[in-house]
Amino acid sequence: MDTRVVQAQQQGVYEQAAQMLRDGELVAFPTETVYGLGAVATDEQAVAKIFEAKGRPSDNPLIVHIGTTEQVEQFAQPTALAYRCMEAFWPGPLTLVMDVKENVLAQNVTAGLTTVGMRMPDHPVALALLKAAQAPIAAPSANRSGKPSPTRAQHVFDDLQNRIPLIIDGGRTGIGLESTVVDMTQTPPVILRPGGVTKEMLTRVIGEVKEAKLTDAKEVPRAPGMKYTHYAPEAPVYLIEENPQKIAQALAALADERVALVAPASCKIEAPIRISLGEDIAANLYDALRACDETDATLILVTATSTGGVGSAIMNRLEKAAGGRWYQTTV
Ligand code: TXA
Ligand code: MG
Repeated sequence: MDTRVVQAQQQGVYEQAAQMLRDGELVAFPTETVYGLGAVATDEQAVAKIFEAKGRPSDNPLIVHIGTTEQVEQFAQPTALAYRCMEAFWPGPLTLVMDVKENVLAQNVTAGLTTVGMRMPDHPVALALLKAAQAPIAAPSANRSGKPSPTRAQHVFDDLQNRIPLIIDGGRTGIGLESTVVDMTQTPPVILRPGGVTKEMLTRVIGEVKEAKLTDAKEVPRAPGMKYTHYAPEAPVYLIEENPQKIAQALAALADERVALVAPASCKIEAPIRISLGEDIAANLYDALRACDETDATLILVTATSTGGVGSAIMNRLEKAAGGRWYQTTV
């Protein structure tokens, strides 16, 4: 299958893409977080193509995207707190897990769960596509399973060329990390995946919220996606504090390796391969992790960031990319 990449500004793009979706095909499109791989969420066969194209385990449910808040009631049963979240954060990078309405969505969208994750994206291309399609769109991130999520159309093409027919190129995504996923069926609600809408922001609107720890499997039903390795470049990744002495010691000890140092613009240290996280770490993170695969690095050191605000989402992704490993130094 040939993969076409079309610019979002091109005439007739949305009508064409909507027709393909209605015909049961997949369309990749930008959102404010990362690129998504969409299919009509009521079409079981189309949704099955998503799992196949991504190589995604079938027990990992998909997020359903809608174009207006009102549509939520067709598919889910929001609680009072869920309505407050929608009012405050939709359109935006917040996925609400709610009880699903029976027999309206394709079974494979929810991977057999009684809940569904929904969000209204805040991106003109995603919203125009949802409007043209006049249907809910199931869309996971448009990467091959296990790879960093795509923040550019080129990333989608690199991962899914010849597996999907159409990519709408809307430029770089703004936030660069996937949406916050909150389980609204629990009291208090539980953050299953941290993202652009932070715990502090949620607390201001709905009061107490809990955070699912990667480890406390028994206490909370985690987002099934959290159990898989994610976001990982080919070479092994280690976290390190952004501390010049520590980094210098690590680089000296690793003289036999081709080390790629992935660090923000504030870090002035030279390394055999230097990949910048710029000033907006969230926006640049996945691009930087993918760039590692274009080098001959045998080991990747990534500097850690503080965990306040969106830092907690950044560290969540980095911990996963590193498989929880920190480079040990003596200084
Ligand atoms: O920003 C985003 O959320 C992007 C864009 C395209 O919208 N989408 C995205 O989808 O990241 P995906 O499939 O890569 O991640 C969805 C996460 C997975 O960890 C999945 O397990 C979890 O949300 N999830 C989906 N439905 C769920 C449910 N009913 N209960 C618990 N977790 C759910
Ligand atoms: Mg994903």
